[in-house]
Amino acid sequence: MISDANIWASLPIPAFLIDADDKIIDVNSAGEGFLNLSAKSVIGTPVWDQIAIDAPIEDAFARARKNGTPLFVNDIDVGSGSRAPLQCALQIAPLIVEPTTMIMMISPRELAGRMTQSHSVKSAAQSAIGMAEMLAHEIKNPLAGITGAAQLISMNLPPEDLELTDLIVAEGRRIVKLLEQVEQFGNLSTPEFRAVNIHDVLDRARRSALLGFGAHMRIVEDYDPSLPLAYGDPDQLLQVILNLLKNASEVADRSGGNIRIHSYYEHSFRLRRADGSGQSLPLQVEIIDDGPGLPEEIRADVFDPFVSGRENGTGLGLALVSKIISDHGGWISVTSVPGRTVFRLSLPRVPRNLDNEETS
Ligand SMILES: Nc1ncnc2c1ncn2[C@@H]1O[C@H](COP(=O)(O)OP(=O)(O)O)[C@@H](O)[C@H]1O
Ligand SMILES: [Mg+2]
Repeated sequence: MISDANIWASLPIPAFLIDADDKIIDVNSAGEGFLNLSAKSVIGTPVWDQIAIDAPIEDAFARARKNGTPLFVNDIDVGSGSRAPLQCALQIAPLIVEPTTMIMMISPRELAGRMTQSHSVKSAAQSAIGMAEMLAHEIKNPLAGITGAAQLISMNLPPEDLELTDLIVAEGRRIVKLLEQVEQFGNLSTPEFRAVNIHDVLDRARRSALLGFGAHMRIVEDYDPSLPLAYGDPDQLLQVILNLLKNASEVADRSGGNIRIHSYYEHSFRLRRADGSGQSLPLQVEIIDDGPGLPEEIRADVFDPFVSGRENGTGLGLALVSKIISDHGGWISVTSVPGRTVFRLSLPRVPRNLDNEETS
């Protein structure tokens, strides 16, 4: 027999029991994850101290309790002490046995959005990139011919005309760089899965960023040292982190910006796929920057190939990131407001039988 307590603990949606005085009587483990606080520390405290809602729902809540009716609220921002507000849907209902006690469930819209995004990204990315790969292959040879010819011509040109051949060569190089990035996709093999200490990957990425493209940034580590090993391909995961750090460094002021690399464990994070299978993705890595945030126009499609908000961007960085994470069976999401952009990766932990054969 499955006990109510087990169902309550397994419920993948943050859920709270609230008494007649609006105090929290109980919270499930998804709810602890949502608040980033333990049940012990929130039980007995006023619910509206823990959960900040930017809409006047307290009256509607009181009415629902008085009338014994459920209350559904869509698309409101729900925050908590430690995290930025998320768009959520709220479901509230009186308990049947004890109608002054209310149960409140919070479903972050981000979760729903993420589920669909990963699938559409995959297929859209694959067809667009397949096409681009073919083109890349066809363009590279003639392009090498054109730039070679321009260099030959430049040898006999008067200095004032050199500007023109220089332009051909420089633009040719830029196209080659773009094509190489496209080809990176084609060369991307399926991940070689093994036990990975994700903090080693994060450290390597951080050090290499600080020596190169991120020299103007402050990058702080905020790791959960008890994090178990992840299951993935360390080289590919390194590429992912480097790409995210690079983007954050590129949008920061020349004078610098701050990046926080945050790792933590979220026991209840499970991905349910369209085919009904489920996977537990408890390892979380967030790359958080305090830059300007995602440009409004591209916010919905940042993971698509060739979507860029930068003058010289290719729009392939995040498409590659998304491809790698999805090949890992993992999940990526982003929330962004000016001053705070969070790219969050959710990854599987290493299967039990491989637990002690760490490699790096
Ligand atoms: N941390 C970030 N903050 C703000 N904007 C970002 C961030 N990361 C990515 N972007 C936006 O997303 C776009 C796409 O990124 P990406 O796929 O890496 O392509 P690219 O860097 O070549 O433009 C960037 O051009 C930028 O506008
Ligand atoms: Mg990029």
